Amino acid sequence: MQGWPERLAGPVGFQLCLPGTRPGHFGDTGTTSSPGQGSRERGAGAETSSAPPPPELQVQGPSTGFPGRVAMELGLAGRRALVTGAGKGIGRSLVQALHAAGVRVVAVSRTQADLDSLVRECPGVEPLCVDLADWEATEHTLGSVGPVDLLVNNAGVALLQPFLEVTKEAFDTSFDVNLRAVIQVSQIVARGMIARGAPGAIVNVSSQASQRALTNHTVYCSTKGALDMLTKVMALELGPYKIRVNAVNPTVVMTPMGQANWNDPHKAKVMLDRIPLGKFAEMENVVDTILFLLSDRSSMTTGSTVPVDGGFLAT
Ligand SMILES: NC(=O)c1ccc[n+]([C@@H]2O[C@H](COP(=O)([O-])OP(=O)(O)OC[C@H]3O[C@@H](n4cnc5c(N)ncnc54)[C@H](OP(=O)(O)O)[C@@H]3O)[C@@H](O)[C@H]2O)c1
Repeated sequence: MQGWPERLAGPVGFQLCLPGTRPGHFGDTGTTSSPGQGSRERGAGAETSSAPPPPELQVQGPSTGFPGRVAMELGLAGRRALVTGAGKGIGRSLVQALHAAGVRVVAVSRTQADLDSLVRECPGVEPLCVDLADWEATEHTLGSVGPVDLLVNNAGVALLQPFLEVTKEAFDTSFDVNLRAVIQVSQIVARGMIARGAPGAIVNVSSQASQRALTNHTVYCSTKGALDMLTKVMALELGPYKIRVNAVNPTVVMTPMGQANWNDPHKAKVMLDRIPLGKFAEMENVVDTILFLLSDRSSMTTGSTVPVDGGFLAT
């Protein structure tokens, strides 16, 4: 997969190549998917067209290098973001993308070794190691985190059990991490934004499982359903302070969590058959949507749950 610095056009860039635009000039990006996964196609279907896009689509920002390239300026550079669950998977990929976009990132996760390697990859990222299931430790670690403009509540656990075998431990851990920590971390960050009189954006990483029943997902579906509603209530109460709150709802992504739960080809096929695009999401699909929701490009969007699901929730 191509690295984020190459995918992002510059410190504030976020390149979109729309159907009908000139193909083949998106950096060196064609597809960025891994073998066996669906491909990420930019400008798909544009191979035979050399016509530039209509003027209304030609947003000529500082990172647009040629006619036909359409740039979406996200303007995130210089802001300070806090990402939870930053050690692996979607959170780690998001930190890399934000860092490449010139954002100052506070990376919160549970395994110190993951944070150490992340800081080596992305110098300047501020690591904070804490178990978000521990309320007191979280208060202690994040209480003096300082000003944060952008928050992504991404840390989550998926402890799958048949309904009749759900344990108290799985219930408590799942709700502590997937829901209670979102409330706690968001309180800390939002109180700071309000005290500074600063606007902000919060993205909660939910799931398609928030809105569809999945076998053995009693607790996980419940936490994500609750997270969708939490997102709406946060949007309602924080909107007057110019703090937007949205959720992204991905389908399966082959992160460590995805691999732990969807590696079985039979199980995966049952899910893939329910996804109109016939593929799981790539991490960058989720990251791109989060970046958009963090940016002022989505300035009128709050309280929404945005599927990144290949159409799963439409069925
Ligand atoms: N992968 C999917 O198929 C999928 C689909 C839809 C939604 N999601 C959601 O996307 C988010 C990220 O998932 P992912 O697939 O990237 O998961 P992942 O690969 O398991 O990575 C999760 C990260 O969160 C950290 N984390 C977990 N519990 C924590 C805690 N109590 N305190 C601090 N950090 C903690 C993990 O640290 P440790 O490894 O050290 O525990 C890890 O770095 C989750 O909210 C998940 O529910 C995932």
